[in-house]
Amino acid sequence: MSKLPIINVPDPLLKTISDPVGQVDDDLRRLMDNMLETMYGAPGIGLAAIQVAVPKRVIVLDTEGDEETRKPLFLVNPEITWSSEDVNVYNEGCLSVPEHYAEVERPAAVKVRYLDYQGKAQEELMEGLAATCVQHEIDHLNGVVFIDYLSRLKRNMIIKKVQKATKDVPIL
Ligand code: NI
Repeated sequence: MSKLPIINVPDPLLKTISDPVGQVDDDLRRLMDNMLETMYGAPGIGLAAIQVAVPKRVIVLDTEGDEETRKPLFLVNPEITWSSEDVNVYNEGCLSVPEHYAEVERPAAVKVRYLDYQGKAQEELMEGLAATCVQHEIDHLNGVVFIDYLSRLKRNMIIKKVQKATKDVPIL
């Protein structure tokens, strides 16, 4: 396994709508293994493939485990099939928006259909932090980052601060 570089806002790749995966094969499992190592190393609780510049509908999560008991979830072509009317507000962060956090309101529970690490179809009810995290990651597959839910002023301020801190990109 190897760690992959994570891209930050305002990289235009983060606006990409990722492509569905045709087949869960060894190449894809290698990508998922590397994504998981990248996520744990960051550290983070969720990562979408586009954050490592791969435009495929793949996410990895671990909202329950700790260093000793890891509980990774691999979701290929995830789709929300049901959302609760109840909402939750979490102070969200993102590995592509380092050091910045903001409250985002989302459905408190969702059902998600996906293919697992072996390519087997699964459907799971997710609640609490897992529900927030899976919605945040599925947003990435649709080119949406959590700061897109904030006011334009706040979003631009955060982007400028990330640019300044990471110095990847010149501030224009
Ligand atoms: Ni994120």
